[in-house]
Amino acid sequence: MIKDLDLLYRPRRLRRNENLRSLVRETVLTVDDFISPIFVIAGKNIKNEISSMPGVHQYSVDRLSEELDQLLNVNITRIILFGIPNEKDPTGSNSYSELGIIQQAVQFIKKEYPQFYVISDVCLCEYTDHGHCGVLTENNVDNDATLEYLVKQVVSHSQAGVDMVAPSGMMDGMVTAIRHGLDEKGYYDIPIMSYATKYASAFYGPFREAAESTPQFGDRKSYQMDPANIREGIKEALLDVDEGADIVMVKPAMAYLDVISKIKEAVLLPVACYNVSGEYSMIKAAADKGWIDGEKVMMETLLSMKRAGADIIITYFAKEAAALLRKN
Ligand code: PBG
Repeated sequence: MIKDLDLLYRPRRLRRNENLRSLVRETVLTVDDFISPIFVIAGKNIKNEISSMPGVHQYSVDRLSEELDQLLNVNITRIILFGIPNEKDPTGSNSYSELGIIQQAVQFIKKEYPQFYVISDVCLCEYTDHGHCGVLTENNVDNDATLEYLVKQVVSHSQAGVDMVAPSGMMDGMVTAIRHGLDEKGYYDIPIMSYATKYASAFYGPFREAAESTPQFGDRKSYQMDPANIREGIKEALLDVDEGADIVMVKPAMAYLDVISKIKEAVLLPVACYNVSGEYSMIKAAADKGWIDGEKVMMETLLSMKRAGADIIITYFAKEAAALLRKN
């Protein structure tokens, strides 16, 4: 037995019960932190569960209300849309067509569910037959040619009534091009949430099944970032601030908490993170096997993102986490 320990500091004093612990808690999750992704697919009467993402579905527009009602039930009113068109081509023309899948979905939601704040993912990969995030010149993703298509896409989304656009293709200058393109048409008030710091990550695997957007050749390493780089990640965020982004994003989240934290210090804009598909699927799979407590690991993971500095968390867990928060 150690006797007469003269301990001045006993951190355990503040951990004695939940009443006290919640008084000194530094980070708290709320439903207002979350944006829920939705996959919208062309066609009728479709509700497909994505096999690698249990609980996440592709919906056709005529069945979207099933998902929207569930979200409203747990007070989630912010969504980001991904489209899966019926036809793909080299320039991803469905993405900027008046009758495109996103355009139809946005029109439906704004008309029938005006309580939602609707964000659109802006990229070509779900719409091109080659699956890359831009148009090709001799099998290379052509940066500047792609910018013109991104502008067409955001203008078309805006005409359909979208509230915010979120370019995710990692093209240089995409925020400048999109800001000018929107302003030229009078859409000054549509904010840009830029996927500023997006890494070439294996954690996107299940999403590519969900969005049917796997590249048909090569990979995305010539435009998405090298996971080894953090200084370059900060630079990407700062560039997008200069280009006029309203929110900058880090993606993925779980394996990049250091990047979130550093970018939070470096910029004065809200910082978002994307808790991506592979991060979701890993937790779901381990929970399904009974190896972890899925709900607790989910909440701890989301909390870690907020603690790292994220003001906004895009997550497939949004619905479940919001339901839990409401219960507590
Ligand atoms: C590209 C895009 C991707 C994701 C969101 N937008 C995939 C990619 O870069 O291949 C990934 C999201 C996820 O994994 O949950 N439009």
